[in-house]
Amino acid sequence: MSDGFAKVREGITDLLVPESFCRKGPGTRTGEVFYNRQMEFGRDISVVFGREIFKEGQKILDGLAATGARGLRLANECGVKADFVLNDRDLRAAVLIKENAELNSLGHVKVQCCDLRSLLAGEQFDYIDVDPFGTPIDFIDSALQSCANGGVIAITATDTAPLYGTYPRTCFRRYGSRSAKSPFAHETGLRILTGYLVREAAKHDRAVEPLLCFHADHYFRCYVKIINGAVKADSAIKKMGFATFDRKTLERGISPERLTDKDAGPLWSGPLFSKDLLRSMRATGDLGTAARCSKVLETWREEVGMPPCFFGMDELAQKTKLAPPKLLEFVAHLVDAGAKASRTHFDPKGLKTDLTAGELLDEYKKFAKTR
Ligand SMILES: C[S@@+](CC[C@H](N)C(=O)[O-])C[C@H]1O[C@@H](n2cnc3c(N)ncnc32)[C@H](O)[C@@H]1O
Repeated sequence: MSDGFAKVREGITDLLVPESFCRKGPGTRTGEVFYNRQMEFGRDISVVFGREIFKEGQKILDGLAATGARGLRLANECGVKADFVLNDRDLRAAVLIKENAELNSLGHVKVQCCDLRSLLAGEQFDYIDVDPFGTPIDFIDSALQSCANGGVIAITATDTAPLYGTYPRTCFRRYGSRSAKSPFAHETGLRILTGYLVREAAKHDRAVEPLLCFHADHYFRCYVKIINGAVKADSAIKKMGFATFDRKTLERGISPERLTDKDAGPLWSGPLFSKDLLRSMRATGDLGTAARCSKVLETWREEVGMPPCFFGMDELAQKTKLAPPKLLEFVAHLVDAGAKASRTHFDPKGLKTDLTAGELLDEYKKFAKTR
């Protein structure tokens, strides 16, 4: 197979992909085996994550593998002897995965060609990757049930418009939560998705512990640990809440109860990252997007433990009618003034803080006037 295919390299893995592959943007179904170059960053992060999490002898599944880009990279670049299974129900994809496995001397990788839900119904895995077109909703229940105790599921969602609040009715149908437009809608969208995983797992007396949940480009990605136990499931459920936002005062936060019918939720109010995991994750030079990975790791480490619902410099500027100062200088000023403050990966012009909106606006006015 080479006519109509191009060879690309990600990390240290070579891949044959359709010549007409998607170079930019979210990528769409083309009728060919799917490959999106822009997702290389997300796959680099998967490799960095797998290097910390995978253990010898585990069963690791890339359930929607397409060209095999993600699963083969995990098998080739994480340095772990495990049982890697790559699946896609499209026969052309399965044939291409096999070819790409051989190209990288990964003959031990098992290739399956079936519906992911039937594969998950018959087998247990320690790691399940679900990277669909659009919403992951079709696969979540079967992935949650098939995941071993202490295992991890990694889920991508590209149905961002419903989760951001552009299509709240679609969001409600899919995730049973109200989404709402706000300056921090990227964060509420991610928390709705994470909260959905928490509630669905709880139905099976299983708890979800977020390890690494983030927003990037045009998608959300959640890596969560699955732990057995009704008591643990109950304590995860206790961290569900509703995001409130007052457009007049800019006050925001997460409340355990719904306070108005405009609140977003139910959604996850707890941590989105494991501090220990982030401390050990390293962006090594072999990754194609090493510089971007390194930068984002730094930002994630800064925002670990910060309160939910970030602020945007633009909203502060609009409210005070004062031009925004440099973000890093303002964050440093807030820290000097005794507040908790950090950048956030959700928005290059966003910040997280434990100040109320009123306190933050006062600091902003003082600081912006001196610039
Ligand atoms: C977005 S692509 C996966 C991209 C891939 N993970 C990567 O990093 O390049 C989704 C893939 O899921 C496959 N697929 C869709 N529904 C499926 C199902 N029910 N069972 C198995 N595979 C399915 C499609 O054939 C397609 O190749």
